Amino acid sequence: MSGRFEGKTCIVTGGARGIGAAIAHRLASEGCKTAILDVDEEAGRVREKQLTSMGLSVKFFKADVSVEEEVSKAIEEVYETFGSIDVLVNNAGIGYGKPLELQTLDEWRRVIDVNLTGPYLCAKHAVRYMKERGGVIINIASTRALQSEPNTEPYSASKGGLLALTHALAMSLAPYRIRVLAVSPGWIDTSEWQIPPRKPELSPLDHGQHPAGRVGRPEDVAALVAFLASDEAGWMTGINVVIDGGMTKKMIYIDENVIEDSIKMLLQDTELASMIRTLIERAKKDRDEMREVLKELLEG
Ligand SMILES: NC(=O)c1ccc[n+]([C@@H]2O[C@H](COP(=O)([O-])OP(=O)(O)OC[C@H]3O[C@@H](n4cnc5c(N)ncnc54)[C@H](O)[C@@H]3O)[C@@H](O)[C@H]2O)c1
Repeated sequence: MSGRFEGKTCIVTGGARGIGAAIAHRLASEGCKTAILDVDEEAGRVREKQLTSMGLSVKFFKADVSVEEEVSKAIEEVYETFGSIDVLVNNAGIGYGKPLELQTLDEWRRVIDVNLTGPYLCAKHAVRYMKERGGVIINIASTRALQSEPNTEPYSASKGGLLALTHALAMSLAPYRIRVLAVSPGWIDTSEWQIPPRKPELSPLDHGQHPAGRVGRPEDVAALVAFLASDEAGWMTGINVVIDGGMTKKMIYIDENVIEDSIKMLLQDTELASMIRTLIERAKKDRDEMREVLKELLEG
């Protein structure tokens, strides 16, 4: 792998597991001295050991990104250890899903604290050192900043805020030659980057509904982050780059074609999918007849 980051240092928050671990691995593999900043000390140590045993320059630093004193101290330690901070990847984040009326204010605040205030604090404290020779900040947002399933208000709001924080920082830090970008992943299966690694449990429907033909992998996001952090992306700042296998560009209207395609992917059986489609078409013409046929089939 080319050494695009030889002589440079990066911080990857939430780098112990998941997408952050893949980003830390990728940047370190390209020659970057890599600081993993994570709240989970046990996981952080395991990841540090794994990556250093591969000959990579990686060190773990413990901090909760939502606590300013911890962020400030950890970033100072990174600078003292490595001598510069060139790239900050704000990746640490927590998910959330609960019906609106059951959501508590404490939960809302925690998600905003980690997912939005965390990147703000890390940027604020890293910039003290990045100003010396310029650099790049990359905020890992989500396609949920742009579209939603029900019951995700704190998460979606935190990621939407992160997109706004991205362009605000890009303008404030431009005079210091610090570029700031957001990356918005869609569905990324992180099982293989957990501790311990797990086997992905994904169905053909999970993969097949993506225009790109598969669910995303942490390595997909890591490759994009490495490009954006490199000098090759030197003319990009302030924007959000979506990486989602095409899902946010997919127009969805429900009709027989969509149902047939979904059944085909779900059952991996073209003939059966076509027969079920015929049943639906017949049911549209004569619902009562089809109800009787299906009742007999299911009861018999
Ligand atoms: N996995 C996806 O499908 C997906 C999609 C879009 C966006 N994202 C975003 O990507 C980022 C990484 O997600 P993931 O799926 O790899 O998550 P993950 O849960 O696998 O890993 C998150 C890491 O962040 C750390 N972390 C959590 N809270 C922290 C805190 N307060 N301070 C420091 N570290 C903390 C965890 O210990 C863990 O190591 C998140 O910001 C998430 O919102 C994920």
